Amino acid sequence: MRFAGKKALVTGAGGGIGTSIVARLRQEGAVVAAADIATDALEAEAHLPGNLTDRSYCDALPGRAADALGGLDIVVNNAGIIRRGVITETSDEDYALSMAINVEAPFRVCRAAIAIMAEAGGGAIVNVSSCWGLRPGPNHPVYVMSKAAVASLTQCLGRDHAHQGIRINAVCPNEVDTPMIRSGFEIRGLDPDTAIAELDKTVPLGRIAKPEDIADVILFLASDQARYMCGALVEVNGGKPVI
Ligand SMILES: NC(=O)c1ccc[n+]([C@@H]2O[C@H](COP(=O)([O-])OP(=O)(O)OC[C@H]3O[C@@H](n4cnc5c(N)ncnc54)[C@H](O)[C@@H]3O)[C@@H](O)[C@H]2O)c1
Repeated sequence: MRFAGKKALVTGAGGGIGTSIVARLRQEGAVVAAADIATDALEAEAHLPGNLTDRSYCDALPGRAADALGGLDIVVNNAGIIRRGVITETSDEDYALSMAINVEAPFRVCRAAIAIMAEAGGGAIVNVSSCWGLRPGPNHPVYVMSKAAVASLTQCLGRDHAHQGIRINAVCPNEVDTPMIRSGFEIRGLDPDTAIAELDKTVPLGRIAKPEDIADVILFLASDQARYMCGALVEVNGGKPVI
């Protein structure tokens, strides 16, 4: 029960990785405020549905979570989208939406959460970047730049707010078996199960990640076991580097 009595806000709580984060935090004693477009179906102590493209929703989210749970110890900025294609296939809408959800929302949520945590004497924030935020994968420039921004933001904030007892780190997964990756195969007319089986062969550990593989590292970073980690970018890739 590493998180007994802890209060956590998780964005993208209904997604592949988000569902696993919320379930594991609750299993280990945390109370959780779930944020996503729709949260009705989610098991959590507080439901904060809304759209992360709405600036005022993002600004208010940490405060609403703290009000609902009686404090705020942990924030996981997990929500994200992927828009595919080389730059000449990338629309203004792809750019605006990717930057709003993947970059501006974590910026706003971090800003509001840090103010609350500083007042309370500390806390932990885990941002979800990507291996592609550290080294670019092919044909996804807007996604890659958005995840690089999250990585950079994490390094800056990790240093700036350590003196307030706030630890801010990021996890950087390679491919994870979630709706995000499956939908990409479907768009390309591929059977997701077959495509994932092929992808599994490219990973030295023999398979792409399952959501739990990433959630476990996020929980570690959010826990006291990571008490000396600030501004770290933790790659979780099964031995498969981005080349
Ligand atoms: N799946 C992968 O291969 C992979 C790899 C590296 C990093 N990541 C990152 O992991 C995180 C979680 O991704 P996932 O694979 O679980 O994807 P997912 O699509 O299963 O989940 C994303 C969640 O974010 C929510 N969301 C999206 N736009 C939103 C908005 N405007 N307002 C509120 N909520 C919104 C969705 O409703 C969804 O529940 C993302 O930040 C993603 O970039 C995923």
